[in-house]
Amino acid sequence: MAIGLDDVVAAETMLSDVDGARGQLVIRGHRLDELAGRASFEQVTALLFDGLIPLPAAMPAAMGAARGEVFGRTRPLLPLLADLPVYDAMRAAVALLADGTETEDALMLVAAPAVLIPALLRQAEGRDMIAPDPTLGHAADAVRMLGLGRDAARAAALDTYLVTVSDHGLNASTFAARVVASTAAGLTSAVLAGLGALKGPLHGGAPGPVLDMLDAIAAAGDARAWLSRAVARGERLMGFGHRIYRVRDPRADALKAAVALLPQTAGRLAEAQAVEAVALDVLRAHRPGRVLETNVEFYTALLLEAVGFPREAFTGVFAMGRVAGWVAHAREQALTGRLIRPQSRYVAHPPVAA
Ligand code: ACO
Repeated sequence: MAIGLDDVVAAETMLSDVDGARGQLVIRGHRLDELAGRASFEQVTALLFDGLIPLPAAMPAAMGAARGEVFGRTRPLLPLLADLPVYDAMRAAVALLADGTETEDALMLVAAPAVLIPALLRQAEGRDMIAPDPTLGHAADAVRMLGLGRDAARAAALDTYLVTVSDHGLNASTFAARVVASTAAGLTSAVLAGLGALKGPLHGGAPGPVLDMLDAIAAAGDARAWLSRAVARGERLMGFGHRIYRVRDPRADALKAAVALLPQTAGRLAEAQAVEAVALDVLRAHRPGRVLETNVEFYTALLLEAVGFPREAFTGVFAMGRVAGWVAHAREQALTGRLIRPQSRYVAHPPVAA
């Protein structure tokens, strides 16, 4: 029995395929390198929804309208969430949305993190929230709502990121979303399950700590000594290792290419590449029999920092992209009509005889 369900196939999906041996991610018949930097997040959301959720005639306009709806519905209540960390406040605000299964519900859920994360960040800094501009692309509007104006380079980098993380097989958060959807609960319930699972550092919570690690190494001045000590203490190096990939995570290269296009990252990128090389060396020596390669979170950290998000918002920005996959998977699961209900093996004492 695999306690972590390592080799268990728990769903059939037409949405994405993760080939861990070849280091290949396919989203609805397209390799990641055909999509990242080429298709917009709205186009990839439409690709994921196709055949599962009726598509609006003009996806960018419908997504823009959905951003406006989310802002209108949640804004009056956001001050009540001011004491929560930004991710928890975003999750609470998503819970305010109707728990339906219609196209309108799906689009509002996909739109929500991109509206809420900038609004909550600005609220935390005591600045006015910026209302969505439905005429802009999704990523461009998120950058604008953050207060960075119309910045094409940042918008393009964020768009590439959102596409890159939009779906990834039956990862922990997608599985959680599918379990909830299998009970015939609504899409908001499924997305809330995904948000809960994404939060942990073994899944979506790693990129903030990646930057903490890079800062600590820069302060210490000796990457090899710092990384070797961390591994010797039994710590996991954030941004490395993966349950499925036995080679380099293809998303790491897609994001590294996008980071390299951003002028803001020049110094940080060189520093990170040097740390990455040493970390891979240290991990090889630590676990010679196990391939521990760079995962998506390492260059995510650099990209999101350069786009202008503070590190406490990184997991929320991951949700901005992955929410498209959660919604599509939830719908796909619900359409099977089959409840997900595995079994557990009881390992405690038998009932005490009366
Ligand atoms: N640093 C140091 N050692 C590691 C790392 C790491 N990043 N990753 C795995 N190992 C070690 C483990 O300690 C384990 O050794 P042990 O058997 O002596 O305990 C061995 O390699 C195998 O690890 P597993 O736990 O079997 O790997 P698993 O597939 O369960 O974990 C995970 C994958 C959770 C991603 C892990 O590699 C990790 O914790 N990485 C750091 C956190 C991170 O980057 N998370 C983001 C993942 S990407 C995503 O979810 C979007």
